[in-house]
Amino acid sequence: MKMPLLKVEGVSKYFQDPRSKNEFCVFSDLSLSVKEKEFVAVLGHSGCGKSTLLNIIAGIEKSNGGVVFLDGRQTVKPGLDRMVVFQNFALMPWLSVQGNIRLAVKAAYPEWDKAAINRRVEKYVEMVNLTEARNKKPAELSGGMRQRVGLARAFSVNPRIMLLDEPFAQIDALTRGVIQQELVRMWEDTGITIFMVTHDVDEAILLSDRVLLMTPGPGATLAEEITIPFSRPRTRDRLVEDPAFFKLRDRIVAFLGHRQAA
Ligand SMILES: Nc1ncnc2c1ncn2[C@@H]1O[C@H](COP(=O)(O)OP(=O)(O)O)[C@@H](O)[C@H]1O
Ligand SMILES: [Mg+2]
Repeated sequence: MKMPLLKVEGVSKYFQDPRSKNEFCVFSDLSLSVKEKEFVAVLGHSGCGKSTLLNIIAGIEKSNGGVVFLDGRQTVKPGLDRMVVFQNFALMPWLSVQGNIRLAVKAAYPEWDKAAINRRVEKYVEMVNLTEARNKKPAELSGGMRQRVGLARAFSVNPRIMLLDEPFAQIDALTRGVIQQELVRMWEDTGITIFMVTHDVDEAILLSDRVLLMTPGPGATLAEEITIPFSRPRTRDRLVEDPAFFKLRDRIVAFLGHRQAA
């Protein structure tokens, strides 16, 4: 059997509560794996530990035990093999659209000459339809456009895996649908594996191959795994015509709600 691309094994994280100063367990002994080219979503309520998990995989946050493997090798620090797309975009405010992408491409390919870097930047600016806005700074862009830059920047360095932390949470609903479809198209075109965390049930069903349900913390667990049965290309319009979509959504909501009450 082929080795999974990403393997999280027995990872634990404890934080100190800022008020009581007591240590609490975000999650312990948490494991998951993601296959090459897969689109996996972790779905859970706000505060359950999704960002903490993603940041540990990214190497931005230290765990209190457990191991993260990428391509069978233990990861110890952040790297361009795992590009993160953040909820708040995290763009360099003083750089243009092109400048933000160029910074990443230069870091990933230090041996490339200027012309090669520019070609790569242009290609990804175009891929997210920002050619017209290429010289604008983040402050001059809408939320949706900013996240397009975030996605282009991450895809442009051809990482082994993309780590998306609620990338559409701060984008208005109408634009969100458009960029979600752009993300799926880029995922299909590039073949880059995606690991996304979200609290949005519909988004998880619409985008991913497999959803891992995370129970509320403290002491969160990945309690259930659901393979999404709907064929691609998926659109929201088509999904809402399928009674199976509502059945699955109800089941997930009931699961998360039930756990919330427990
Ligand atoms: N640096 C920190 N110090 C203390 N507690 C933290 C820290 N970061 C996150 N937490 C807490 O850990 C839990 C999980 O947070 P987080 O991973 O951000 O959740 P999610 O992304 O699912 O909303 C929450 O209770 C949060 O308040
Ligand atoms: Mg979060």
